Amino acid sequence: MKIGIHDLEVATTHYVLDLDTLAERHGIDPKKFSIGLGQDAFSMPAPDEDIVTMAAEAADTLLARHDVSKIRQVLFATESSVDQSKAAGVYLHELLGLPANVRSVELKQACYSGTAALQMAVNAIARTPEEQILVITSDVARYALETGGEPTQGAGAVAMLITANPNLVEIEPGSGFHTSDVNDFWRPNDSTTPYVDGQLSLDAYLTATTAAWDDLAARRDLSIDDVDKFLHHQPFTKMARKQLAALAEHTGHELSDELIEESMSYNRALGNTYTASLYFALTAQLHNNENLAGKRLGFFSYGSGAVAEFFTGMVQENYRDHIYPEHVAKQLGNRVELTYDEYRTLHSDFAATSETYTTQPTTHAPFRLSGVTEFQRRYEAQ
Ligand code: HMG
Repeated sequence: MKIGIHDLEVATTHYVLDLDTLAERHGIDPKKFSIGLGQDAFSMPAPDEDIVTMAAEAADTLLARHDVSKIRQVLFATESSVDQSKAAGVYLHELLGLPANVRSVELKQACYSGTAALQMAVNAIARTPEEQILVITSDVARYALETGGEPTQGAGAVAMLITANPNLVEIEPGSGFHTSDVNDFWRPNDSTTPYVDGQLSLDAYLTATTAAWDDLAARRDLSIDDVDKFLHHQPFTKMARKQLAALAEHTGHELSDELIEESMSYNRALGNTYTASLYFALTAQLHNNENLAGKRLGFFSYGSGAVAEFFTGMVQENYRDHIYPEHVAKQLGNRVELTYDEYRTLHSDFAATSETYTTQPTTHAPFRLSGVTEFQRRYEAQ
């Protein structure tokens, strides 16, 4: 029985900052961002947006095409959680009208946990193939001002429906894993921005993803040439190029950038979307490539701290009948461009507090955070 990604949808934020704007005000050559990092812009939430509003928008569009009564679990993966206790997915039940007999939990391991959620869903469907699972990856990547990470901020969500006999990608059994305790990027409970050792993070990413490939290669009869396209977690898109070059050197196989070129268009425009980044790479590859039917995709998932997984999936025959590139174009095109001063104000006014406040309606998105009352977050459809 085939199990995998049946359908997916994405959402991002109300605002966008063009990296040329940041470069100009910081006296940096814009090519450092556009070529050096491979990034053009990053999404930024309005005060009434967060991981829940983005997730609700992506999931609402997705579920409008499906029978919600078949869904049995919501697995919500995020690095930028809004509560230490309550799972973000629980808010979706009310907002999306999900039945009460649906389980909801949140998963964490930096940018990696979306992959854990996907694999948990695939394993659960193997036992109960008539059921469906909603996997959400949603994040706001927010770094401190004037740090190396600042141009790699971003925000976005990908909602995926995991089922038997999927329309898009069958997830193949057998993954390669790598876990090592390394402090390359971490965010203590009392900090709204991460601590980052930039160079260590690059090294840790390359070491862990290569080791995950080695683990898979030792377990499955699979050569690097059996993979038709590679997808990566893209903290910035140049990272995918670095990983492919490292993999080529490690395996002694020539690996052309054509293997990843189509996977980068959305992440270039969104910035780092942490858990969602790998799945935006998948979305871009499916949208930009008309000849993927029957092809094998190799997924490199990485989350600082650090956990990596390499797994594969087979693109299904009629996948082009089940994709909606115009929805992504609308999400990207509808964003309102920030001036540098507006960006700075928005960044400084970020509310990560449980104290009572209300937000003015800013976002045009279908769901918004109306504020916090008596320590409780309030969301509404609009
Ligand atoms: P930096 O010091 O600002 O940049 O840090 P740099 O000096 O290393 O330059 C970056 C690139 O631009 C270099 O290219 C330069 O040569 C080039 P490279 O040598 O690497 O190929 N460059 C130029 N190119 C063209 N024209 C120019 C020019 N000038 C320079 N004029 C760093 C970069 C990535 C470290 C920083 O942005 C950072 O700390 N980012 C945050 C951490 C990060 O994204 N790490 C990635 C791996 S870890 C990960 O992916 C996990 C993560 O997503 C979190 C999670 O798991 O939750 C972060």
